[in-house]
Amino acid sequence: MAEISERTAHTRTASYEADPSEVGRVLLLYSGGLDTSVMLKWIADEYKAEVVTLTVNLGQPGEDYEGIEAKARQIGAVECHTLDAREQFAREFVAPAIKANALYGGGYPLFTALGRPLIAKLAVDVARASGCDTIAHGCTGKGNDQVRIEATIATLAPELKVIAPVRGWQMGRDEEIEYARRHGIPMKGGTEIAPYSIDDNLWGRSSEGRWIEDLDHAPEDDVFQLVTPPERAPEESQVVNVTFERGVPVAVDGERLGLVELLERVADIGCRHGVGIVDHIEDRIVGLKVRDIYEVPAAAIILLCHQELEKLVGTIHQNQFKPGLERQWAYLVYAGLWWEPLRGDLDAFMERVNEQVTGTIGVKLYKGSARVVTRSSPNAVYDRSLASFDESGGLFSQQASPGFIELWSLQSRMAYQLRARDRDSDSAGGT
Ligand code: ARG
Repeated sequence: MAEISERTAHTRTASYEADPSEVGRVLLLYSGGLDTSVMLKWIADEYKAEVVTLTVNLGQPGEDYEGIEAKARQIGAVECHTLDAREQFAREFVAPAIKANALYGGGYPLFTALGRPLIAKLAVDVARASGCDTIAHGCTGKGNDQVRIEATIATLAPELKVIAPVRGWQMGRDEEIEYARRHGIPMKGGTEIAPYSIDDNLWGRSSEGRWIEDLDHAPEDDVFQLVTPPERAPEESQVVNVTFERGVPVAVDGERLGLVELLERVADIGCRHGVGIVDHIEDRIVGLKVRDIYEVPAAAIILLCHQELEKLVGTIHQNQFKPGLERQWAYLVYAGLWWEPLRGDLDAFMERVNEQVTGTIGVKLYKGSARVVTRSSPNAVYDRSLASFDESGGLFSQQASPGFIELWSLQSRMAYQLRARDRDSDSAGGT
């Protein structure tokens, strides 16, 4: 624990940040990438600490978890854990987001923001179980993820401390590669060109960096690793039917599926048809405005269906009221306050509304677009005979409408007349 470099010793600002002299055994949130691999070695050397790694599977496609563990051991981890948290992520984080129609800034379905509190909670559990005093993560000081992870740890485990070496060490990418070479840390090929900065799970994928930072640079196709560019999507459209029970999707085209499998199935269909590309300007919680390219095929389809079904089963008053609470829900979650009681209060409301959200929505997918084409629900507040232009059988009295209009518009008409009077007297005075 001796000889902590100047740099490390003087970077504490918050109470939950580790005092270097207290760091003995560190739980590192490990992805297997360059940053966290360099961190593993650097923490072991700099703090003379034991490093335990945790890698969490939230459904990021194509990940080799055994390879990641092997790499961690090779770099010097004393203990390695990999947790498959897909089911928990889908049930406890994605399902509530669906019930809340959660989109931050009108376009971002929050996949990363939903994943971080779970990853950080699992880090707390594993840190406690394996006797760690500190949790380390690879976030920079510019993003939202540091807020989500550290707020979670400080909330759930006041006894644990945090270190975030990337925020303090001021190594650029080239220096990290040099460090990795020097210490025999294995790297994948292609270290010459800086890659996009990627984060993904079963609810979506984000890309940042490179030309994405030039706001007037239109997306290059190589950024799309999930969704087929719409121009290259099939010429034939496809209708996909999503069935919900109490707000949660349970079947696709009549086939009942577990939530994880269902999300993957819908994502596959969306990807094929070029659905779910979002080119998004975003207000980060730390003040920066940034651009993200998102690929969110499952969310694009499922949120569309859920919203449509909810509209069908809700009354005009429920439908007018809920979006305000949805915006607040999305903002809290985006901003890293998953554990804030207001989020639970809002969830209670979302749950209650979603008790009625049962039924099936059909969406037509074609070259990047998704459009609702059919709807059915036992709870629809809809009566075809009432809405029809045909005779309503006396149940809806059109004769009642003029009386309604007279009362409904009363205050608006009075106010309009008052203003008209003021306008007339103003212009009379002016001449
Ligand atoms: N802008 C999104 C968010 O703040 C995605 C962030 C992706 N994170 C990452 N470390 N690449 O949630």
